[in-house]
Amino acid sequence: MTTLKHILCIVGTRPEGIKMAPVIQALRREPWARVTVLATAQHRDLLDQVLELFDITPDVDLDIMRANQALADLTARLIVALDEKFRALAPDAVLAQGDTTTVMAASLVAFYQRIPFGHVEAGLRTHDFDNPFPEEMNRVVAGHLSHWHFAPTGRARENLLREGIPDASIHVTGNTVIDALLQVAADKGRPHMTKPEPGKRLILVTAHRRENFGQPLRDICAAIRTLVERHADVEVLYPVHPNPNVRPVVHELLGGNPRIHLCEPLDYAPFVEAQKRAYLILTDSGGVQEEAPALGKPVLVLRLETERPEAVEEGVVKVVGTDPALIVSEASRLLDDAGAYRAMARGVSPYGDGLAAQRIAEILRRSLVPDTVPAQADSGSADSVLGNREPVKLQQ
Ligand code: UD1
Ligand code: UDP
Repeated sequence: MTTLKHILCIVGTRPEGIKMAPVIQALRREPWARVTVLATAQHRDLLDQVLELFDITPDVDLDIMRANQALADLTARLIVALDEKFRALAPDAVLAQGDTTTVMAASLVAFYQRIPFGHVEAGLRTHDFDNPFPEEMNRVVAGHLSHWHFAPTGRARENLLREGIPDASIHVTGNTVIDALLQVAADKGRPHMTKPEPGKRLILVTAHRRENFGQPLRDICAAIRTLVERHADVEVLYPVHPNPNVRPVVHELLGGNPRIHLCEPLDYAPFVEAQKRAYLILTDSGGVQEEAPALGKPVLVLRLETERPEAVEEGVVKVVGTDPALIVSEASRLLDDAGAYRAMARGVSPYGDGLAAQRIAEILRRSLVPDTVPAQADSGSADSVLGNREPVKLQQ
């Protein structure tokens, strides 16, 4: 009889909830694992929505979020609170996903307490600490403090190898966002959103990055207005992030236009539905850059750089930055030129095949309880399908 291994799964923000949900579900199916879910609640409402959808109730909730939280204050409060909880819970391993302040703080506290840390979505890099800020620094810190690196793609693995991370600690698993997406996209019982009007084409927009606060966000809004003015058959759906540096600006610049629908952030299932219904997506989000290609939707990235070059190289995502003229010209090309649109709307998934979480659970089993046998069907190594940059064609 094997002693149960205690795995502490950390979630802080909306994307972490989405991308950790399949990992939590997979680990809960493992007979050797005892899973504790700790929500830092760096995001409050956005995280709660997602956890509810995936039927995950946190065992511990730090309720960290404050209105318009500053990075140093957030980091300091996270480190103190996580330190206390890790001491009390004494897990055998800590897992966290991505590049938020929650993840950086969790990796640092795990390091201080000598608890092995598993980094889900390891190895993404722009090699520019200003873009995205502060996420590039967060993932470099977490990356160098991790015991297990769950890299979504072969490119991510190469980034880690270049930084001197030992090959044996890197596992190409695919990105768990595709696991979550397939789960939610397959559920036909979810409520459906109704936009756009018949005969209209929908542009879905999201923007929340710190480096876009101020003039870049104003430029993005100006571009959206121009697009709507120039294309009578276009409607925009923009679920606005609650960040106080985003919401008032967007409402001031885009409110009151009958073809621009500003709304609260959508729950994940309706947001996936909105992506499916969209003709085109404009975003500075990381997760959306991964999901939209799998759904066959062209993406224009409202950032100067991306840590997700695979879909760009595949030709289904384009980095356009925040220059309004460039956003308008690139979006107009896709609206006006059917050939250019078809070339970007191909439905490929360079980021995963839906089995990433199962692979992560199996890697942890082999590492933590090597005497046991796998409880789940073999999901195979992702290296063969993802390590060679061959995009996966998903069944939708
Ligand atoms: C954070 C992450 C970013 C991630 C994004 C996902 C950091 C530094 N940033 O950015 O990497 O891409 O989450 O969305 O870790 N707020 C609410 N309700 C919520 C969530 C946020 O009101 O449910 C407001 C609060 O005023 C909060 C502010 O938004 O203080 C900013 O939240 P924060 O997590 O610091 O930054 P995000 O821009 O959301
Ligand atoms: N998302 C959502 N509702 C929305 C906007 C986004 O559920 O109104 C989902 C989206 O599908 C993706 C994730 O949130 O899975 C991305 O989160 P976000 O853009 O906030 O963060 P990032 O991925 O940039 O870190």
